[in-house]
Amino acid sequence: TSVSAEALVELAKRRGFFLQSADAYGGVSGFYTFGPQGAAMKRNVEETWRDRFAIQEGHMEIDAPTVLPEPVFEASGHLDGFDDMLVECPECGQSHRADHIVEDGETGIEEAESLAPERIEEVVAEYELACPTCGTGLAGQAIEQFNLMFETNIGPGSSSPGYLRPETAQGIFIEFPQFAEYARNQLPFGVTQIGRAYRNEISPRKSLLRVREFTQAELELFVDPEEDEPDLSAVADVTAQFYPAEAQDRADGEPVEMTIGEAVEDGIVADPWIAYYLGVAAEWYAAIGLDMDRFRFRQHRPGELAHYSEDCWDAEGDVSDPDEDPDWIELGGFAYRADYDLSKHDAHSEAEFTIFKQYDDPVTVEQPTVDPEMGYLGPEFGGAAGDVADALEALAEDDPDAFAGEDVTVEVDGEAYTVPVEQTGFAIEEVTESGEHIMPHVVEPSLGIDRALYTALDHSYREDEVDGEERTYLELPPAVAPTTVGVFPLMDKDGLGERAREIAAELRADGLAVAYDDSGAIGRRYRRQDEVGTPYCVTVDYDTLEDGTVTIRDRDSTDQTRVAADDLASTIEALVEG
Ligand code: GAP
Repeated sequence: TSVSAEALVELAKRRGFFLQSADAYGGVSGFYTFGPQGAAMKRNVEETWRDRFAIQEGHMEIDAPTVLPEPVFEASGHLDGFDDMLVECPECGQSHRADHIVEDGETGIEEAESLAPERIEEVVAEYELACPTCGTGLAGQAIEQFNLMFETNIGPGSSSPGYLRPETAQGIFIEFPQFAEYARNQLPFGVTQIGRAYRNEISPRKSLLRVREFTQAELELFVDPEEDEPDLSAVADVTAQFYPAEAQDRADGEPVEMTIGEAVEDGIVADPWIAYYLGVAAEWYAAIGLDMDRFRFRQHRPGELAHYSEDCWDAEGDVSDPDEDPDWIELGGFAYRADYDLSKHDAHSEAEFTIFKQYDDPVTVEQPTVDPEMGYLGPEFGGAAGDVADALEALAEDDPDAFAGEDVTVEVDGEAYTVPVEQTGFAIEEVTESGEHIMPHVVEPSLGIDRALYTALDHSYREDEVDGEERTYLELPPAVAPTTVGVFPLMDKDGLGERAREIAAELRADGLAVAYDDSGAIGRRYRRQDEVGTPYCVTVDYDTLEDGTVTIRDRDSTDQTRVAADDLASTIEALVEG
């Protein structure tokens, strides 16, 4: 079953997943508060990401500040280029994203983001596009570039501007020299971070899907482009739908279902590291409850690539309303950033953003060495001595081998001067080198947690009929469901309530997320847990007091089984493990 965005947002608010913030003050667009269910689910989603992308891969996890000084974003390119196109309505004064207006108006243009502002202005006029708020025509309005970073001042005064980070990635890149030390200068190594990012979106929309403060889970993998290769065997059999750029350019082009192994073999995903993490991500998205029939990997077309990216694939999820055409949203990006970031920070900062790569065997190279004590050009060179010295120096740089013989000849103003090598000030020396400095390349899986959570809710939404009554439930995997087990006494009397509270406390002590509930009819309590996706409910009844057994009810089948209360924690843990 799919669910309309409106119904999902209503359920999310009523049941405590998420709600728009600051409602008491009129609400603030683009900011959401996770309620108790949402905060628990978000923690679980993050935990599964941490487990899969950091712990299982053996990568580091760090936690950098959300505010960073201006030079960082000068270097990263965000200050200059992190813009969206804005158009302001002349009538109501509302600002909108110009590219969204083009995509939403019936222009047939997709990915308007990659068009130049002048072209957008033309399209707006040509199709008589109007303000989505008040319907006034926008023809003739200028398109402005609007930088999405939130600016602040670090300390009093305005001499030290800072910005809320628009991506967690920069906090990793700027500490690369130290992280490389932690990795003992061995490539490849990965650094992960889960944290808030901020973008002053022109038009936040679709509840959690486009907000101004959100959580990213990013991995920056540093590799030696010449040598490092992933072991693709672990993900070779993972299946997903792939939508390469070439297929998007064809009218009849469609996504194709294939394994990661096939996508690499067929050259559809060119970079093996990107392919590896597409495989890891496909497994992860399935594990948090996405319907893989409504999930695909789409390659960026050349005009869409971000300023830093050589090749990029997006993970996309369909969040359309029932009976509507698919509505694909970007859940994550998988970019080959090459040495863009490290070379920028290397050039703009005081530090070196390279790794010393040790050779397997040291190599011996011949190098001209300068010994100023040794070089002298006697009176025979007359007034040309200075020019001859300069020419020798240039030659030493261009062709050090020229100093290997007994003398060296250089030409100054059409005249040849021959200098015995011991007089040149340059000599050839054999030098042993144990390695060289290289700038690693970066492979970046960057996933949005809010969008993943929203899509997991959307895709796990179910409606069915139980005992002649309609019910709604979320078929969330136990690993991400906010609550693992609901514990209910049949009624809070005759000692049933006490026993149920004891059992709840025992399960909590075992580390399970438990909801205790004794209010209302038992059927209502089941429905409440169904609606927040609790996979198991335990009921304490009169038999419990006699024989020590309880019932466990399965959310999806609603089947009930009796088990000994003493074995409850291990039974539930086994069920969760599947
Ligand atoms: N470091 C790369 C980077 O930041 P991005 O594609 O701009 O790449 C990565 O962002 C992910 O962050 C997106 O795929 C999306 O899931 C999430 N994201 C970006 N902007 C968002 C917004 N305004 N609201 C919610 N999530 C957002």
